[in-house]
Amino acid sequence: MASAPRYRVRAYAKINLGLNIAQRRPDGFHELRTILQTISLADDLVIEVRRGRGISLTVTGDAPADSSNLAWRAAALAAESWAIRGHVALHLTKRIPAGAGLGGGSSDAAAVLRALALTARRPPAPAAVLALGAQLGSDVPALLLGGTVLGLGRGEEVYTLADLAPWHCVLAMPRGGAGKAISTPEAYARWDLHHPGLTPLAASATIMRFCSLVQQVLPAFRAPLTVTRNREFPSGGSKVHAGIENDFQPEVFSLSPDFPRIHRQLQRASAAWVSLTGSGAAQFGLFAEAGRAAQAAARLAVRDRSWHARFVPRSQFLRGVSVVS
Ligand code: C5P
Repeated sequence: MASAPRYRVRAYAKINLGLNIAQRRPDGFHELRTILQTISLADDLVIEVRRGRGISLTVTGDAPADSSNLAWRAAALAAESWAIRGHVALHLTKRIPAGAGLGGGSSDAAAVLRALALTARRPPAPAAVLALGAQLGSDVPALLLGGTVLGLGRGEEVYTLADLAPWHCVLAMPRGGAGKAISTPEAYARWDLHHPGLTPLAASATIMRFCSLVQQVLPAFRAPLTVTRNREFPSGGSKVHAGIENDFQPEVFSLSPDFPRIHRQLQRASAAWVSLTGSGAAQFGLFAEAGRAAQAAARLAVRDRSWHARFVPRSQFLRGVSVVS
């Protein structure tokens, strides 16, 4: 077998700009409405199909190097579905923290699918890649598209949206204790416990409200950065902010005072928008200026884990696959 190229893929993290949860469906998943945005915090995957059989995974950083890793499961599913013969060798450099709501595992899986789709003798159609991604996790399809994405259904029904402004994004989560990984199934189970009365009717009201808010909110995020120097969005930001929130936030804030403390700290640093991402444990603050963002990240790092990233538009996301020798 002629050896295939070795691909290096940037597996970008995501944040959720709003997350509305509706009713639990018969398949156990919840209907939701969210906008996902890729950011520059990223893992790296090097993917190669060699002579032989099976899958191997080596990891630099903190992630399991076995079949429990979603990157491994993505390789197994793609190899089977797209008749990829050979040994799939993966090397993962892990930077995105697990259980943070940043989509790290899902992004690694999406990166593996993107590379293996290129090695398949009969390249799969984009829709087939998205469908395979949805089998691996609800966030995987959005992380196959990159940029700004509307996620409906259980999150896997994805629609690309026009790019937003190049916001700086400060991420923070508590160290140890309260900052330990938050399990997504547990977060949804907790949500069910506290919201027993969500009927499909209430759900559709939630969905309508979210969709109309999206119309109001996105133009604010697209505004030229010079207009958003301080914490107000041009079109009455604080009012809009009150609408497109993350439904998991009150639940997570009740777990430890560290969460509201971080929230307040980001607000005090003049972030234009502060929110939990996914089901936590990370929160993000958006800043128009690099300097303010860097300062906020440095202050938070005294006590918490923090990162300074930027929004990654789809054009940059698509350039994230390269051939390495
Ligand atoms: O799709 P993903 O693997 O991320 O889902 C993990 C778990 O989170 C699911 O098994 C389910 O318990 C919960 N979930 C949900 N509704 C969603 C997405 C996830 O209940 N829309």
